[in-house]
Amino acid sequence: MSIDHPSFGRIAADRVIIFDTTLRDGEQSPGFSMTLSEKLRMAQALAELGVDVIEAGFPIASNDDFDAVRKIAEAVRGPVIAGLARAAPGDIVRAAEAVKGAARPRIHTFISTSALHMKAKLQLEPDEVIERIAASVALARNHVPDVEWSAEDGSRTDADFLCRAVETAIKAGATTINVPDTVGYGMPDDMARIFAMLIERVPGADGVIFSTHNHNDLGLAVANSLAAVKAGARQIEGAINGIGERAGNCSIEEVVMAMRTRPDACPYVTGIVSENILKTSRLLSTTTGFDVQPNKAIVGRNAFAHESGIHQDGMLKNALTYEIMTPASVGWTKSSLVLGKHSGRAAFRAKLKEIGYGDLGDNQINDAFARFKDLADRKKTVFEDDIIALVDDAAVRDHERVRFVDMTVWTGSRQPARAHLTLDIDGQRCTAEAEGDGGVDAAFKAIRVLFPHEAALRLYSVGAVTEGTDAQAKTTVRLEEDGRMVDGQGADTDTIVAAVRAYVHALNKLLVKRERREPEAISA
Ligand code: KIV
Ligand code: ZN
Repeated sequence: MSIDHPSFGRIAADRVIIFDTTLRDGEQSPGFSMTLSEKLRMAQALAELGVDVIEAGFPIASNDDFDAVRKIAEAVRGPVIAGLARAAPGDIVRAAEAVKGAARPRIHTFISTSALHMKAKLQLEPDEVIERIAASVALARNHVPDVEWSAEDGSRTDADFLCRAVETAIKAGATTINVPDTVGYGMPDDMARIFAMLIERVPGADGVIFSTHNHNDLGLAVANSLAAVKAGARQIEGAINGIGERAGNCSIEEVVMAMRTRPDACPYVTGIVSENILKTSRLLSTTTGFDVQPNKAIVGRNAFAHESGIHQDGMLKNALTYEIMTPASVGWTKSSLVLGKHSGRAAFRAKLKEIGYGDLGDNQINDAFARFKDLADRKKTVFEDDIIALVDDAAVRDHERVRFVDMTVWTGSRQPARAHLTLDIDGQRCTAEAEGDGGVDAAFKAIRVLFPHEAALRLYSVGAVTEGTDAQAKTTVRLEEDGRMVDGQGADTDTIVAAVRAYVHALNKLLVKRERREPEAISA
C-alpha cells in the first residue's frame, strides 16, 4: 500500500509522518505558553529536526495564536504548516487565513464523536455531528488541498459510529484521518483494534493517511502510538518532551528512537534528524522554563549516565553492554570547557555558531558577550551549557521595557533581608530598597516598589545549569493577572539575581499581554 497525498506525493508504505503539536497541544499545558518570537524560533528548530508537519496553533483561539500561525506559515520552510479549527465556519476561515502563506498549508478540523462528548459537551445528536463533519471538511477543502479531520475522544467512540464519521470525512475530502485518544484512556490493544477496523471497514480508507494522537494519562502514549502504526496508521502526532494537555502527548523523541532502535520490531522510517533531538528538547526547556525530569528517556540528564560500578565496568569493555543507542545519535556530546575570560568577541561568535546559535542579532550577541565576560570573571570554568543559558537569557530579553541593571542584597539569620535594586524602566534608571523574608522576597518587593503592579506570584522555581557551587542558577517565575498567566526565565551564578531576571522577564511578557488586551484564549 502506498498513498498519493496532496502535500507529500507518493508516500512509501513504511514511511511514518511525524506531526508535531508542541506549539498547539503542547502549548496548552499550564505554564508552557510562548511568545511569538519564541514560537518562531521553536518552529525553525522543528523544521531542522525534520518533522513533517508543524501544528503551529489554533488561529481562532486568540490574536496571538493567529499571528504565530501566520508568521510561521510565511517564514518556516520544509514542513507542512497546520492550523487547528473546530467544526465551525468561523474557525475554518480563520485557520485558512493563517496558513495561507505556507508552501504546503493544512487545515486540521475536529469534532467530538463519543456519545459522552456529543451529549454532554456539544449537546448535538449524532446525525447533527455527521452533518457538521461533512460541512466542515468540505469548507476546509475549498481553502486547501490538505485537510486533516479528527474524531475527538475517538478511542471512546462507538465503533459503528466512528466508521460512519470517518467515511463522511473521507467523502467530504479529508486526506488525513486522526483518531485521538483524547483522555489517555486507551490501551495498545484498543488502538490496534480501532485502526485495523477502520482500515478494513471504511470505504475510501486506502486513499487517506490514518493518524494517531495519544495523551499520556496512563503513561501509554508512546506504546499506543506504536500499536496504531503496527495496525496501519502512518502519522504519529506528538510533542517534544511529551508536553501537552494534562499528562501530555506522545513524546516525539521517544517514539522516533523506539522505531530507530528496534527496526526488527518496528520496521518504519521517519524523516527525523535524530542528532538534533537534544538541541530541540533543550530549546523547548529553556524557552518554557521547564526542564525534563533527569530520568526522562532520550533527553533526561541521566538517560546515558552509568552510575553503578558494574555498569561502568561493562561500558568500558564494550558500550553495547548497557547502551541501546549511542548518546551522539540523539545529540549528546560532552559539555566541554569552551572559552576563558581572555576570549574575544570573534571567538565567542564562532562558538555560538558551532553550538547552533548562528542566527542571533547583534544586540543579542553584544548582551550575551557582556554577560559571558562577567560570568568568566566569576566562574572558574565556563561550559557550553553556560553559554546556552546566557544566550537564551539574552534572546528573551530583546525589546523589553523593564531591564535589570544591578542589585545588592544583604541577608543573614539575624535580621530581615534587604535588597537595593536598580532597574531601567522605559529608558530611565530607577533605584529602590525593600526588606523581605529572605533575599528573593526582598528583591521581588523592590521590583514592586519600582514598578507597581497587582500580578500574583504563582510559581518560583530554581535549577542548576551545570554542577558545582559556582554553577549558574536557572529560575522560572510565573505571574498571573486578570486570568492571564506568564512565565519568565532568568540565569545567573547568583540565585537572587537569576530570580530577579526571571521576574522582570515575566513582567515584560505581562506588559505585552496587557497592551494587546487579548480576549480570553480558547483551547482545544
Ligand atoms: O486530544 C485531542 O483530541 C486533540 C484534538 C484537537 C486533535 O488534541
Ligand atoms: Zn490532544
